[in-house]
Amino acid sequence: MSAGESLYQALSAYSESSFYPCHMPGHKRSPLSGEMADFYKIDITEIDGFDNLHQAEGILAEAQERASRLYGTEETFFLVNGSTCGVLSAVMAATRPGDEILMARNCHKSVYHAAILHGLRAHYYYPELIREYDIFDGVCPDEIGRLLDRFPACKAVVVTSPTYEGIISDVKKIADVVHERGKILIVDEAHGAHLGLRGATGKTGDDRGIQGQADAALRDADLVIHSLHKTLPSMTQTALLHVNGSRVDRIRLRRYLSMLQSSSPSYVLMASMDSCVRFLEEQGEARFAAMQTHYENFCKKTKNLRHLRVGKMADVSEKTYALTDWDIGKVVISVRGTNMTGKALSDALRKEYQLELEMAAQTYALAMMTLMDEAEGWQRLADALIGIDGRIEKETAQSAAKSTVYGEAKLTMAEAFHSRREELALQDTPGRISADFVTPYPPGIPLVAPGELINEEIVKEIERQRKTGLCVQGVSAGGRIGVVVEIHDKVWHY
Ligand SMILES: Cc1ncc(COP(=O)(O)O)c(C=O)c1O
Repeated sequence: MSAGESLYQALSAYSESSFYPCHMPGHKRSPLSGEMADFYKIDITEIDGFDNLHQAEGILAEAQERASRLYGTEETFFLVNGSTCGVLSAVMAATRPGDEILMARNCHKSVYHAAILHGLRAHYYYPELIREYDIFDGVCPDEIGRLLDRFPACKAVVVTSPTYEGIISDVKKIADVVHERGKILIVDEAHGAHLGLRGATGKTGDDRGIQGQADAALRDADLVIHSLHKTLPSMTQTALLHVNGSRVDRIRLRRYLSMLQSSSPSYVLMASMDSCVRFLEEQGEARFAAMQTHYENFCKKTKNLRHLRVGKMADVSEKTYALTDWDIGKVVISVRGTNMTGKALSDALRKEYQLELEMAAQTYALAMMTLMDEAEGWQRLADALIGIDGRIEKETAQSAAKSTVYGEAKLTMAEAFHSRREELALQDTPGRISADFVTPYPPGIPLVAPGELINEEIVKEIERQRKTGLCVQGVSAGGRIGVVVEIHDKVWHY
């Protein structure tokens, strides 16, 4: 292995060497191992010279330090099991079983799962909606302060910024109110691995990212989770966990990471993360500058859409919303006020224009664009929207606004999750306590969490989402969900 060599180069050189593998994996890098044999060439295990992620001291330690330098953090860990694993480890390191936690109600399901695993009592911050687009607004720092004063036993606060739709909160102010009260701030920035890459610009200490968007999370939060795979050139499942300051017990954090990550982390995934970091060092600045240009051209082209509306910070910045920025890579296309649903728009883009979107809801569809999109992709999206816009009609009847009504928590999530349960038809569940999650996917934000009292309005919202053709996890094909019959007497009661 030579100095400066990437993990991928080291693996490739090793695959060409005369070493014979008397070790795992079972494919033995053999060309005879089936149709995927080519992919196995660099798929090794922890052999001499290739370090061990669970006690990194060599090539993997260097790769993680490189990532930490790029993001300007104190310490960065590679995750081979997505942000999911980072969120679980972060929440569990920041709390002890039975603790209380404050979390935004629009957190990803992994935060809820961590609450179950640690038997946490969750208190919620309920984000408002940005009504023009039917998407969640950012998190209001003052309200976080008020909630922490009301629930002072909370050990940690978890917020998502940016959201799935790209809404960025004022993390600096949130960090101030959280830290003033001696709590830990965890920012789920799974969708923001491309924000605030100061190292890549060579402007260390600058608080603007190369996309021009501030990334306070990396500087001010205690724990930040990034899915590299969501917005950067890296393989699916690759993610990072960043740590700053001394509020988090790093020994416990490492213990959780080693419990929750595979004991055989994939070298292919780790090489992909190292390669992504190097790519950003070399090409990040130019790529993000090009992305900004493509975005501006796209905005000019779609400026005169008659009915469809593309979400932009400029449209909402004058309003009293909490967001501080809107990621340009999340193109939210609103169909509100037209005779088309978001799902129909997404279907038309697929069938007629061969454009596959990230997700579709009742009143909008979401296209994700990254630094790897060239002018052609942006142009095709703009042309398709102009084409569809030309043929749709204005609809005066307003489509139902997204509901943000949630059930009152009667039990902790762990109590409800471990309870004896029965499966009931949706219409029979009002008045019962849910034993499980009901989660539209994507984006993976639970409508119902275990322990919450179900009511008529929630059932209507679940039915509305299912009718729109969205995938709603937790509801069986026959339309049944799990409700609590009796709490298990061996479950933690805090
Ligand atoms: C906000 C948020 N956090 C965490 C995750 C989990 O990320 P991963 O798929 O990398 O495990 C997701 C996935 O969609 C997400 O949207």
